[in-house]
Amino acid sequence: MNRKRPVAADEEPTGPPSAASIAAYVTRAEGLVAGAEDLGALDAAEAELLGRRAAPNVWKRALGGLAESERRELGGALNTARARIETLVATRRGDLEKVARAMVLESDRLDLTEVLPVPGPGHLHLVSRVREELEDVFLGMGYEIAEGPEVETDWYNFTALNMPPDHPARSGQDSFYLDLGDGESVVLRTHTSPVQIHLLERGELPIYAVMPGLVYRRDTPDASHLPVFHQIEGLVVDSGVTFGDLAGTIDTFTKAIFGADVTARLRPGYFPFTEPSAEFDISCTICGGVGCRTCAGVGWIELGGCGMVHPAVLESTGVDPEVWSGFAFGFGIDRVAIMRHGIEDLRTLVENDVRILTGV
Ligand code: PHE
Repeated sequence: MNRKRPVAADEEPTGPPSAASIAAYVTRAEGLVAGAEDLGALDAAEAELLGRRAAPNVWKRALGGLAESERRELGGALNTARARIETLVATRRGDLEKVARAMVLESDRLDLTEVLPVPGPGHLHLVSRVREELEDVFLGMGYEIAEGPEVETDWYNFTALNMPPDHPARSGQDSFYLDLGDGESVVLRTHTSPVQIHLLERGELPIYAVMPGLVYRRDTPDASHLPVFHQIEGLVVDSGVTFGDLAGTIDTFTKAIFGADVTARLRPGYFPFTEPSAEFDISCTICGGVGCRTCAGVGWIELGGCGMVHPAVLESTGVDPEVWSGFAFGFGIDRVAIMRHGIEDLRTLVENDVRILTGV
């Protein structure tokens, strides 16, 4: 195979150089170097112009056949030409490297001024949105919105709710006690039920109220628990209130929040401050009740607790249980928020992922 690179006739140096052929070489070399658009093209041009088989080397070998004066003259011209082309190649290489570096810098650039696409000023946190929606539903049903303190005395959080000291139900709500007053007498409220006591103490009856807010429990955060979370409490006290009213109320607001095809059910439960007590579930919003991973295959999702207000609770606040009766319910707002938005882990709500405030 003929491995010899094809060379155009005019650039194939055979014999010794002449002043004219050296000048022609320089002109051609200047054009080639200036025309090299990238480092690869420049390498190729350099091999062609200065490589072992390039004109200057062939000519150099042929100089030996010339008379001494001619050899000195042409040899000098050849060295000058070669040095000039070497300089041109080096300069061009420097320029092309600068361009290449600039291109890499541009493509790797980390734009620290980049602004994430927040639509307008953003929107309320999902938990706040669900809380407001719940408030709207209950306002529409004629309820008032009430709030109570997050730091409570033992009386409001437990005792007035029919959980005297040493009542076993207290330990089910692992509490954060504050170093105030007598030992274990001031607590970060473990539920919103103490707001029931504040409302009853007000002595204005009847009561139709919901009470949203933060509650605190000594729980380790996991996919379904946060040590600080939101509940909403409901309290109705009037004359002649029945368990049927409670069931109808739960069915009405769960349909308003989750959609008309969702059904609610009550299961027997126990809370010291209601009697009878129940836990209430909704049909699974993911599978519609047939059973899936979210509802652990049972078709129902537990939402909260409820029941008829225990006569002892009414009595502890000076309300006559012979005249008044009522129901109460309570559930977690954060859980409703993740269910509504298809979020699998409660912790996502507090981890500063900006998508929680933008996309959903
Ligand atoms: N306070 C209860 C809890 O946090 C829920 C509840 C409220 C139960 C009202 C019955 C009536 O678990």
